[in-house]
Amino acid sequence: MTTTPVSPAHRPGSPSLVPTLPGRYYTDPEIFRQEQQHVLEAMWFCAVRSADLDRPGAFRTVQVGRENVVVTRNRKGALRAFLNICRHRGARICLEESGEVRRSLQCPYHAWTYDLDGRLIAAPNLTSMPDVDRTAYGLVEVALREWLGYAWVCLADEPPSFEETVRGAAVERLGDPAAIDHYGTEDLALGRRITYDVKANWKLLVENFMECYHCATIHPELTEVLPEFAEGYAAQYYVGHGAEFGADVQGFTVDGSEGFGRLPDVAEDQDRRYYAITVKPTVFVNLVPDHVILHRMVPLAEDRTVVECDWLYAPEVVASGADLSKSVELFHRVNAQDFEACERTQPAMSSRAYRAGGVLVPTEHHIGIFHEWLLQRLGGDGHAGPVP
Ligand code: FES
Ligand SMILES: [Fe+2]
Repeated sequence: MTTTPVSPAHRPGSPSLVPTLPGRYYTDPEIFRQEQQHVLEAMWFCAVRSADLDRPGAFRTVQVGRENVVVTRNRKGALRAFLNICRHRGARICLEESGEVRRSLQCPYHAWTYDLDGRLIAAPNLTSMPDVDRTAYGLVEVALREWLGYAWVCLADEPPSFEETVRGAAVERLGDPAAIDHYGTEDLALGRRITYDVKANWKLLVENFMECYHCATIHPELTEVLPEFAEGYAAQYYVGHGAEFGADVQGFTVDGSEGFGRLPDVAEDQDRRYYAITVKPTVFVNLVPDHVILHRMVPLAEDRTVVECDWLYAPEVVASGADLSKSVELFHRVNAQDFEACERTQPAMSSRAYRAGGVLVPTEHHIGIFHEWLLQRLGGDGHAGPVP
């Protein structure tokens, strides 16, 4: 495909270089706190892969902004999410990152006990306090939706529209509401999960994922498979466009060798193409004909972001014990290359050289839209220019 790209922000006559956010947006704990409040706790947050909680009582805890959330599966098999805080005197209930309880969640402090729907069902001496209305002391529930086989939670009292803010990102990127459904992501099986503990601000990871100006420099394997990436135009550049595999590339693997069979509903025009979607604030979805790679970020501090990356394949591929290594290795290298670049950038954010920020070239101008979005969420005026 040869399309002359014109960034939405780069029209003839507009300046080539536009400003980024100032450095302090990546280093200031107070700005990170505002992001926790107005972004991470206010939007839908992709918390857990649904199938990881494969039976009633299985749980996973995840940090969402300043809150710790426990996601579990109730006796009827439905996922539920709660603030991981005891209603008695506030102890954390589930101390592990993941685990399994038999039928209830019990606080390790004074043993208040909640069922898997969060109801207070028992506490020492509770029967001698007949005036206590147990229904008033259940765990605080958190909104939960499932999409792509993941549990997305939202801490807002009135969550934003899931259709607009989550699914809408895929529609906006792919140009067709049905396009992502062709990959049947919710029915895929986990082939591999790699967790990266990245010493960088989460926005550096988002910005990096949104552009491909760096691809020719740091992603030799990826640009072999997707030659158009060497030109620096990210696949996220034009609506509906997926980067095409090179002519002699057989599959989305580290050496371009054959991958696995095309997922059954992937359309002809999606074959031999890579699509990347950023679902703000913390999710990247990568679609290729035979698998899906999904990144979930957990921003923990202004300079630390944990990324859980899942490689998802047709269940029969995983069940067959097929060798996934060449398939996984491609994007694992991309991740390592990207995160290393982000970690190299993070310390510079507090340098006086970056006090007023840096600049975006035309192939990165769409990152400016992300900055404007962020500033609007933080209550700013929507201009990403240098802040005094
Ligand atoms: S704080 Fe949980 S039982 Fe007391
Ligand atoms: Fe990259």
